[in-house]
Amino acid sequence: MSLSVRLGGITLKNPVIVGAGDHVMTAGGIRAGLAAGAGAVVAKSINESEAAKRQLDGSDHVLLDSRWQKLPWDFAPPPDAMVFGRSGLHQMDSDAWIAEIAALDREAAKLGAYVIGSIILADLEVAADLAARMQAAGLRVLELNIGAPHGDEAVPGAIVQERAAGRVRAITERIRRAVTIPLWIKLTGQSEDAAALALAAKDGGADAVIVMGRFMALVPDIETRKPMLGTAGAIGGPWSLALTCRWLAQARKKLGPGYPLLGTNGARDGLDVVRFMLAGARAVEMTSAVMAGGFGVVSQAVREIGDYLARTGGTAEDLIGVAADAQVGYGVQPDRPGYWRDFVPVESRE
Ligand SMILES: Cc1cc2nc3c(=O)[nH]c(=O)nc-3n(C[C@H](O)[C@H](O)[C@H](O)COP(=O)(O)O)c2cc1C
Repeated sequence: MSLSVRLGGITLKNPVIVGAGDHVMTAGGIRAGLAAGAGAVVAKSINESEAAKRQLDGSDHVLLDSRWQKLPWDFAPPPDAMVFGRSGLHQMDSDAWIAEIAALDREAAKLGAYVIGSIILADLEVAADLAARMQAAGLRVLELNIGAPHGDEAVPGAIVQERAAGRVRAITERIRRAVTIPLWIKLTGQSEDAAALALAAKDGGADAVIVMGRFMALVPDIETRKPMLGTAGAIGGPWSLALTCRWLAQARKKLGPGYPLLGTNGARDGLDVVRFMLAGARAVEMTSAVMAGGFGVVSQAVREIGDYLARTGGTAEDLIGVAADAQVGYGVQPDRPGYWRDFVPVESRE
């Protein structure tokens, strides 16, 4: 029973990736992700925008249950926990950070894993320069996030969220010219058509596309009558999985079954990774679950995928896109005349 998955030019030992976030902003966090057995860890993103760095000092997060009640951040969240908040970018000097994560990627290689460099777009030429510096330092994979949810709320110049296919293609082409290592493009979940953006990134030369970022939200607090945390913020929860899976399936249809897709936004355990893979992902970036539950979530997810395959047979590769390809249109479902009557309580039926 093999857990390994091919992803463009590389192979991951398993499909569980620790997604970029504030828990992988230090060597200690990244090493913890590797030690937990992740196939890869995406290091906290950088760009050269002072505004984005400053935004980190104003970052704040709250853990909420599905009834909008605050939960303690005790690394033992209930299954319905959601992370709501605002974040910023790494404040460390870029060259120092790139050198540090390149060294960690060399450590990762000995474990058969990867540490992936990540850039969040602000200025395209600056991003191209950072990308080239990451490759020169020896990083083996680059991720470019052009869909960070905070794009519209952030101070101008801090973060860009691209929702137009033409821009996605042009940005991807520019970064493609800057590096030869595998280039993964992370897309917004807030566009009209995530599959069209995925196609634009593919056409621009991306080796893989990540579907899809979290959503902007406002959570009124009924006690203070103010927004929680005082601002809008990004949100995602276990419920995001179904939305992401649908766009993964749409992207698979548009880009073809051979093109590598990654999933993010909604995976909370190993069986969620299986769900994402059935919808078309070759690997899955988990962030909120690890931030809220600790790095043990990673080792447990890898175990759960192994247990699932032991129970149902086959390999991780066998899962990819199976549910997506079994999807049919509404028109081919059997007729169920009068089914709608079931929604009226019995005592109210005429
Ligand atoms: C606090 C926080 C910080 C994040 N920082 C980054 C980042 O620096 N770069 C990035 O590409 N994604 C970042 N993300 C997005 C996550 O990597 C991930 O794609 C997203 O949270 C959806 O996956 P999830 O449901 O597993 O959390 C961040 C998410 C959170 C919650």
